[in-house]
Amino acid sequence: MGNKTFTMIKPDAFANGHSGAIIDQITKAGFRLVAMKLTWLTPEKAGKFYEVHKERPFYGELCEFMSSGPIIAAILEKENAVEDFRNLIGATNPANAAEGTIRKRFAESIGRNAIHGSDSDENASIEGAFFFSGLEWC
Ligand code: RTP
Ligand code: MG
Repeated sequence: MGNKTFTMIKPDAFANGHSGAIIDQITKAGFRLVAMKLTWLTPEKAGKFYEVHKERPFYGELCEFMSSGPIIAAILEKENAVEDFRNLIGATNPANAAEGTIRKRFAESIGRNAIHGSDSDENASIEGAFFFSGLEWC
């Protein structure tokens, strides 16, 4: 069981002014911010981040959306971080997300679903390194 995960506040939630409320919900749920930055993905960088989905029908739309505006990328720390964070954000499709989850509160649709959360300890580490360097101290 790892103690770190990686997240992005996606372009829809950032543009709609939900970043503050989302960060508040994350920290109140017991996650510690280890690293955080505001950035803007190019379509190429979004494509690389979501490369695992490149054969899926929604891949083009996903890369276009993820590069459509600024995002906030962060590394979070908590016991059982990956699983607890996926529970905090809720199901991929906000229509199926549990009440009170971040996607239930802030997501517009399955394609514009407000927030990303790593799906394994291994991917948390890969995704964190994709955005941040010099993390030896954390
Ligand atoms: P994420 O990686 O962004 O945290 O989302 P997730 O694990 O809940 O879902 P994943 O299967 O990894 O899919 C990545 C993103 O692709 C979009 N998607 N669209 N139209 C569709 O059927 C469909 N399925 C997935 C979503 O925006 C999802 O977050
Ligand atoms: Mg995923």
